Amino acid sequence: MDQIQDDREWSTQEPPYWLKPRIWLAKTLELVIAVVLFLWLPVAIVVSRVYKWVRSLLPWKRRRIVKDTVVVITGASSGIGECLALEYADRGAKVVLAARRENRLREVAEKCMQRGARDAVFLKTDVSKLEDCEKLINFAVDTFGRIDILVNNAGTAAVAAFEEYPNVPEFQKILDVDFWGNIWPTKFALEHLRRTRGQIVVTCSVAAFVPYPKQSFYNAAKAALLNFYDTLRIEPIGERVSITIALPGFVVSELTTKGPPGHIPKWWPMMETDEAAQRIVQAAVEEKRYIIVPYWYIFNLFYRTFAPELLDWPPRVFLLGKPPNKEIKMMCEMLLGEENTQKLFQKFTAFT
Ligand SMILES: NC(=O)c1ccc[n+]([C@@H]2O[C@H](COP(=O)([O-])OP(=O)(O)OC[C@H]3O[C@@H](n4cnc5c(N)ncnc54)[C@H](OP(=O)(O)O)[C@@H]3O)[C@@H](O)[C@H]2O)c1
Repeated sequence: MDQIQDDREWSTQEPPYWLKPRIWLAKTLELVIAVVLFLWLPVAIVVSRVYKWVRSLLPWKRRRIVKDTVVVITGASSGIGECLALEYADRGAKVVLAARRENRLREVAEKCMQRGARDAVFLKTDVSKLEDCEKLINFAVDTFGRIDILVNNAGTAAVAAFEEYPNVPEFQKILDVDFWGNIWPTKFALEHLRRTRGQIVVTCSVAAFVPYPKQSFYNAAKAALLNFYDTLRIEPIGERVSITIALPGFVVSELTTKGPPGHIPKWWPMMETDEAAQRIVQAAVEEKRYIIVPYWYIFNLFYRTFAPELLDWPPRVFLLGKPPNKEIKMMCEMLLGEENTQKLFQKFTAFT
């Protein structure tokens, strides 16, 4: 392992002489680099689109064959994970299902066999526990001799504003499942995936780039996952193991329908679970880097870049019952008074 930098000999206020030309370069080129990158952007987009299109025409274009491959799926006892298992079963895979609820896993395994899986086994696993993740990967390899695809899907969420969390262990639990619960299985499966030129599919979330109130740790974990797997892709392992990151918006599942109220507006559009799973598996088969379901959430990326404040407004109004920003609040208070403004915006949360 390369050294971890923790012992600096000089302070950043007084950098050594050999760094000064580079600092000067950064200062003088700040505008030039920005302009060049800006002008290059449309060209780069066109070039990359054309490259992708040409590649898609090549007769040897890589498409992953799922039949007879070994697919390990975490969080397979319900929701998106269950539907992903059924999708892989439809395509004739051997599936290894993992989650904490054994009775649910048994039912999903039976359904997978009915849908055409070559085999379906399951193991009770808590992905927040390192030893459980190691056992899961060993179990898959002992049972089938190999792993071709690892689907990191297990996830959990809590609905609370940061200041409402009672203590540190409470929010650590979320990261243990939503972040480390992806990393541990990946760590143990990596050597097997390297051998089979396998694939990692990650159920991340659009929450990785769209802020959503009362979900700070969930959002942070998903953002970390997105960066973690994007980084893995450009490390040497990325040459042998392909990575598809799924970024769902709201999809029907226990997470979105059985959670505490006040989390999602009742009128908010939600995608069917099996449709989301079908699109994710199709993208994985085509070895796409990302798949956003539903697709329209992609526009949030543009808002995030060019008008981030507009992403804050709807959740403030519809979930928190607050005016979208300070200026509108002041204006409303001038026209209606403080109490009426409060009452007016509280009305927006009636359908939450
Ligand atoms: N539904 C959405 O709108 C949406 C949107 C974006 C992203 N996602 C992501 O999609 C993934 C699946 O969620 P879902 O919507 O399908 O919700 P879900 O139905 O609640 O499924 C969550 C799955 O994760 C498992 N799980 C939770 N904690 C676990 C743990 N400690 N160890 C092992 N398994 C655990 C659950 O099984 P057990 O309880 O049996 O352990 C369950 O199978 C999650 O990563 C979620 O963040 C969902």
